[in-house]
Amino acid sequence: MANVYAKKPLVITKGKGALVWDVYNRQYIDCTGSYGVSIVGHCHPRIVEAVKKQAETLISCHSSFYNDARSRFLEKLSHIAPQGLDKIYLSNSGTESVECAFKLARRFSGKPGIIALMGAYHGKTMGALSATWDKKYREPFKPLVPEFSHVPADSLDKMEEAITEKTAAIIVEPIRGEGGIRALSNRYLQELRKICDDKHVLLIFDEVQTGFGRTGKNFACEHSGVIPDIICLAKSVAGGLPIGVTIARKGVMSALKVGEHTSTFGGNPLVCAAAAAAIDVLVEEKLAERANKLGNYFKEELQSLQTRSEIIREVRGLGLMIGVEFRFDVLNILNKSMNKGVLILDAGRNILRFLPPLVIEKEQIDTVISVLDKVVKEEENERLFGSTSDQNA
Ligand SMILES: Cc1ncc(COP(=O)(O)O)c(C=O)c1O
Repeated sequence: MANVYAKKPLVITKGKGALVWDVYNRQYIDCTGSYGVSIVGHCHPRIVEAVKKQAETLISCHSSFYNDARSRFLEKLSHIAPQGLDKIYLSNSGTESVECAFKLARRFSGKPGIIALMGAYHGKTMGALSATWDKKYREPFKPLVPEFSHVPADSLDKMEEAITEKTAAIIVEPIRGEGGIRALSNRYLQELRKICDDKHVLLIFDEVQTGFGRTGKNFACEHSGVIPDIICLAKSVAGGLPIGVTIARKGVMSALKVGEHTSTFGGNPLVCAAAAAAIDVLVEEKLAERANKLGNYFKEELQSLQTRSEIIREVRGLGLMIGVEFRFDVLNILNKSMNKGVLILDAGRNILRFLPPLVIEKEQIDTVISVLDKVVKEEENERLFGSTSDQNA
């Protein structure tokens, strides 16, 4: 396999709910949720059952034919999608959902310009990469797609200045995930909507990481009440199987004509059957509400840990999308937590990122906190006092 992933020394072989097991049958609480994919938990029985049943019926069916499993999923998705977003394009990943949004924006407006935010992450294919901010991803692949620009995330004035007669769309993540769990305020998003309406520019929300209950609502846009023209989803929508979804207002999506944007695997029945089951689980198990409640609890516990620590700068996030910013590099904390049975992600050099399955139990959160408590104390002793043992243990 290509050497493009920062590998952890762990072979994961099994998963259930918020837990995974390694090849030696050691158990871990998975606060990475497979990079935010496992919203409904690992191997949810409803997903397993749907996949098994569909695998015995029909696995592959190109979207040039109609298919019952796909129709069932599209209908369920259109029921929970933000109001007015009613035309759906199906692909296989987050970056593809973003590519579709960009092509759609250009086709609809007849203009080339896309404005993204500094700190943004939208994927790594050439179009999405052109909107992604981090130099380490962009520089080796220049020249990127022309007419993409970036503005600071906290300035509506700078945004207005950046819009020209060539601007087709603005793309934002309601909460930047890879960019450090940094939320845009409701006011910012509401003003951005007005600016886009005034200047006839499309507003794209990349909810690949924030969508599907993660932040305590089915879609993060519901917190601000702002409905974008196009929304991009992926990660968790098919309960762990690969999927990308781009949803737009009918008038916008109809700009794409037959053959202009297609995907061989997009909308295949196996994935659609899993995705229909995932929506049932999201709704019936009230996972967004659960993310809100458990997210508040998790955040309070982390904030209490912050008061006991000198190396934690800030705890932030919404629902079960939580960031903890440290004064130092978090690599040791990640590794030590892993050795004590807790898997956590980073988001930049000094931020821990928690994207656990929304089915995580309160007791599992308590275990995560007690592991972190120990690990943070150890790290603090090493960083501040040069000791390699936990003197307070
Ligand atoms: C906000 C956002 N957009 C796009 C992507 C790209 O998704 P994928 O890795 O499925 O291509 C990601 C992945 O982390 C993401 O967080």
